[in-house]
Amino acid sequence: MSDLVGRLRERLQSRQARVGVVGLGYVGLPLLVEFGRGGFHATGIDLDARKIAAIESGESYIPDVPSTDLADLVAAGRLDATTDFGIVKELDTINICVPTPLRKTKDPDMSYIVSAVEAIVPHLRPGMLVVLESTTYPGTTEELVKPLLEQNGLKAGVDFFLAFSPERVDPGNGSFNTRNVPKIVGGVTSDCSELAQALYAPAIDTIVPVSSPRVAEMVKLLENTFRAVNIGLVNEVALMCDKLGIDVWEVIDAAKTKPFGFMPFYPGPGLGGHCIPIDPFYLSWKAKQTGFEPRFIELAGQVNASMPHHVVDAITSALNVHRKSLNGSRVLVVGIAYKRDIDDMRESPALDVMGLLLAKGAQLSYYDPYVGVLPGSAWAGAFNMTSVDLTPAILAAVDCVAILTDHRSIDYGALAETASLVVDTRNAIKTRHPHVFRLGAPHPAEVSSTSAVEARAAAFA
Ligand SMILES: NC(=O)c1ccc[n+]([C@@H]2O[C@H](COP(=O)([O-])OP(=O)(O)OC[C@H]3O[C@@H](n4cnc5c(N)ncnc54)[C@H](O)[C@@H]3O)[C@@H](O)[C@H]2O)c1
Repeated sequence: MSDLVGRLRERLQSRQARVGVVGLGYVGLPLLVEFGRGGFHATGIDLDARKIAAIESGESYIPDVPSTDLADLVAAGRLDATTDFGIVKELDTINICVPTPLRKTKDPDMSYIVSAVEAIVPHLRPGMLVVLESTTYPGTTEELVKPLLEQNGLKAGVDFFLAFSPERVDPGNGSFNTRNVPKIVGGVTSDCSELAQALYAPAIDTIVPVSSPRVAEMVKLLENTFRAVNIGLVNEVALMCDKLGIDVWEVIDAAKTKPFGFMPFYPGPGLGGHCIPIDPFYLSWKAKQTGFEPRFIELAGQVNASMPHHVVDAITSALNVHRKSLNGSRVLVVGIAYKRDIDDMRESPALDVMGLLLAKGAQLSYYDPYVGVLPGSAWAGAFNMTSVDLTPAILAAVDCVAILTDHRSIDYGALAETASLVVDTRNAIKTRHPHVFRLGAPHPAEVSSTSAVEARAAAFA
C-alpha cells in the first residue's frame, strides 16, 4: 500500500480531509450538505456567483435542502463555497456534479465535464481523490476524464485516485434522498474504489462497490433506460386503451396488486427532467459506436416524444365536444414543472404542449405553485409568462383546463367542480365527471354505456 493511499484513508476516516464538490445544482448541493453533516469541512465550487452568494448567506435554492441545514453548517464553519478553482489545491477530494445535456443531434455534450476537469488540472496534487458523479456514457471516466487529469504527468491509481459514482437522487421524493439511496462506486483501481467508499461512508448509508467505473456508469444508464422504456410502454398502452375504450389507470391499479413480476409505471404528457429523456441517448450513442443499434431506446424515445401531440389532440377533441375550436380557446395549463412537487422545468413536456397549443391559436395561461415565472427562453412561445392564481374566477373563465403535472398542493376536487372542461393527463381527478377527460380512459359519455367498444362499433355500422 502506498503512503498516499494510507494518508488519504486516515484523513477521510478521521474527517480531517477537506472535501469539495464542483457543480452545486440539484445533485451537488445536497451532496455538499451531506458531506458537511457527515463531519467533513465541505467546500463547493460553482461558476454561478448567485449560487455561491446564496450558500454563503445560508439560503438554499434547492427545495430538497432546507435552508436551516445549510445555514447551520455555514455558521459552524463546516461548509463554504466559491467560484475560484484555486481552492482545489487545498482539498483532498473533489466530486464533479456538472450537467451532461444532449446536443440537438442527440449526441452527448461533454463540454461541462471537460471544462470542470480542465479547471481542476492545474491544482491537482499527489494524493487527491477525484470522483465523477455526472451521468454519462460508459467509458467516460477512463477514456475522457483520466487522460485529462493525467496531462501533467500524475498517474491515476498511483499519484491520484479516480472513481465514478452515479448520483441516483430523485428530487421531490419525500422518502429517498442523497443519504439513504445506496451509492454505486467504481474505482479505476481497487485503491481508488476503497478511497471513494471511505469518502462516502460518513455521508451515505449504504455503499455498493462495483468492479470498474465503466460498470458504475452503465448501472445508472440501465436504471434510467429502464424507466424511459417502461414509461414508453405504458404511454403506448394508454394510447391503446384510449382506442379500446378501457381505463388504463384502472388497469394499472389492478395489475399492481400482483405481488411479484410487475412494477407500476404511469402514462403522462411525455418525459421531462435532466435524466430520463436524456440519459438513454448517452447509452445509445456509445452503443452505436460499436455498430450496435439499440432499438428499445429509440422506440421508447419516439413514443414518449409523441405524447405532447396526443395531449393536444385530446384537448382539441374535448373542446370539440363543447362545440369549440382550439384556435381562440382559452386554455389554462395546470403544472408546468416536469414532475410533481418540484420547480424543475428542464425538458418538461408541459412546455412542448404549450408550444403546440400556442401554434394552433390557443390563448394560454398557466398555474404552477413552484414556477412563478416562465421565461421566454424556456419555451417555444419565446415570451415571458407569469403563473396565474388558481381562483374559482379564473377556472370558470377558461374554456379548458389541462392538468399536465399533478402537484399535490392543488385541490383537484374543487378544480373539477369549478372548471367547465378539464383534460387530465395524470389521473389527478379521482371522481368521475362528464366534463373531465382523462388520458388513456374512455370518453366520459362512454363510461355509462354497456361497452365503449360496442358503442364505437355501432357508430361506424
Ligand atoms: N437533477 C437530477 O434529478 C439528477 C439526478 C441524478 C443525476 N443527475 C445528473 O447529475 C448531473 C448534474 O445534474 P444537476 O441536475 O445537479 O444539474 P444542475 O444544472 O442543477 O447543476 C449543475 C451545476 O453545475 C454548475 N456548473 C456547470 N459547469 C461548471 C463548471 N465548469 N464548473 C463549476 N460549476 C459548473 C452549474 O452552474 C450548476 O450550478 C448531471 O449529469 C445529471 O444528469 C441529475
